[in-house]
Amino acid sequence: MCGIVGYVGFKEKKEILLDSLQELEYRGYDSAGMAVIQDDTIHHFKAIGKLSNLKDKTKDYQSQGFGISIGHTRWATHGKPTELNAHPHLGDYSYVVHNGIIENYQALKKSLQAKGVKFVSQTDTETIVHLFEDEHKTADSVFEAFTQTLDKLKGAYATLLISKADTQTIYFAKHGSPMLVGFEGDDIYFASSDTPIIGKATAVYYLEDGEYGYASKGKLHLFDAHGKKDFSTQVLCTDKVLAQKDGYRFFMEKEIYEQSTVMSDTMMGRVLDHSIVLDELDADFFQDIKAIKICACGTSYHSALTSAYLFERLSKIRCDIEIASEFRYKEPLLTPDTLFITISQSGETADTLEALKMAKRAGLKSLSICNVDNSSIVRESDTAILTRAGIEKGVASTKAFATQTMVLWILSLYIGQTKKTITQEILQKEIDAMLHIPKSLQVSDVLHEKLHRLSKRYLHGHGFFFIGRDIFYPLALEGALKLKEISYLHAEGYPAGEMKHGPIALADSELFTIALMPKSMHYEKIKSNVEELSARDATICAISPEPFALADDFIQTKYSFHPMVEFFEMMVVTQLFALEIAVRLGNDVDMPRNLAKSVTVE
Ligand code: G6P
Repeated sequence: MCGIVGYVGFKEKKEILLDSLQELEYRGYDSAGMAVIQDDTIHHFKAIGKLSNLKDKTKDYQSQGFGISIGHTRWATHGKPTELNAHPHLGDYSYVVHNGIIENYQALKKSLQAKGVKFVSQTDTETIVHLFEDEHKTADSVFEAFTQTLDKLKGAYATLLISKADTQTIYFAKHGSPMLVGFEGDDIYFASSDTPIIGKATAVYYLEDGEYGYASKGKLHLFDAHGKKDFSTQVLCTDKVLAQKDGYRFFMEKEIYEQSTVMSDTMMGRVLDHSIVLDELDADFFQDIKAIKICACGTSYHSALTSAYLFERLSKIRCDIEIASEFRYKEPLLTPDTLFITISQSGETADTLEALKMAKRAGLKSLSICNVDNSSIVRESDTAILTRAGIEKGVASTKAFATQTMVLWILSLYIGQTKKTITQEILQKEIDAMLHIPKSLQVSDVLHEKLHRLSKRYLHGHGFFFIGRDIFYPLALEGALKLKEISYLHAEGYPAGEMKHGPIALADSELFTIALMPKSMHYEKIKSNVEELSARDATICAISPEPFALADDFIQTKYSFHPMVEFFEMMVVTQLFALEIAVRLGNDVDMPRNLAKSVTVE
């Protein structure tokens, strides 16, 4: 969850690195750094916080003539956001930047420490540079030392290494994390996505997993498991916005597809094989906490509602949820044994921020769950857990919701683990389900095509009811909100069991019911609720792993042993459903009318 850039050539390197990192800042901005080797001299700079801090630090520096350079913007996974943990990481005479995770870094670190190597950071990345220098002691060449280093690394990574042992060359490798190489004349660029090099390079080669090599003046040497490799470049797109959409029609569509990978980022370093780790929280954080109150708005509020089921079920802690704008004026009774949680994608929502300030004035401990580090809500809170969704451009929130819900699920288990309200057996079952989520969020072509075809039947009618029970009720609310936001059709989310207490009066063939019918939770109950609606001739679109005879339309999801796996899969279905209807209606999906991404007014 970081951004990498590199440049070999004669141009001014600092400006190239800073400009490129700016494009990647959304991938991480808790610290940034760069290293430049020129005329056998290394210049390196690191700064915590936003890239502007690195800009300030480097304002008096300029590179001249030929040189090699690497840069990085970081989103902390291993170790807190400090200058020591920022990249590039240094050995005695080499520097490395890295994106991904080195799974066996602890074992490697131990064996290097046994040889007397000193580590200064808590990161997995630092291992790469020390390992390289250790290999270099016996290797015949820098390249041999680099390949021997790669042979020992396990995990997913993209990495760039420069060394005073070879001041003309950048060494690179890609294995599971994105990286590409850009070309323009004799200039060679590296980056973890193409936007940083658009406008600089004209041709591009997208590295494949398992490829590695080195770049020196005007020439890239590429290798894979079979040895040296030829490659051909392609023309690099010149439109940044188009490139940022990665071939998707809308940012929202791209963000729906991205959910599978960003969820891995959210879990990285937090969901281990048999336990939950939250470095952000002190060991005694929950010691005096007897209850949780969560305030949020919009989509974040729906994520909060979902979590209330998890906190009470898994953490055995009372949990109340409030819409921030309501909370502010209700003269709430607040007790100091309550943890006050705010959830916000942007970290700037005025109502949520004000609610937080009220809670702080009342002496409550505060925690924010947010996607933007250094935002007002994060700064105002005692502690924050970042969702690591990456920048979300579509106004209708998708991956932010998914990652917020994941963080809350992780937190509920963390409390359960700390307060021992769950057994190791239950914890293991939850972790197994969590590790399955990235897969269940993958969008299949068949599903998307089906929703595209289906959408044409849902462009009219007098309204939609999204219904569900338990955690699927907040998901129903969120599904309805997504549809409202981008299609401008009237939609409501409702607890399925509550329909008979009023709303069922609306049922007729022009009332569209989107029924969330998971098999792992209360299936028979929701089935009866849907049957009641069907008996009144409502049009039923059932989302379920189990075929349902009374459905007018049926979207089949996968069977799962765990409701949260079903939850996330159904979430994707409702997001794509809203998207396809909005597209057919000709609406501006990414910038729906009357809405704003961040609402900083009351
Ligand atoms: C706005 C956005 C919504 C969002 C809400 C809360 O209304 O349009 O998509 O859910 O604000 O935003 P936050 O940044 O606090 O999550």
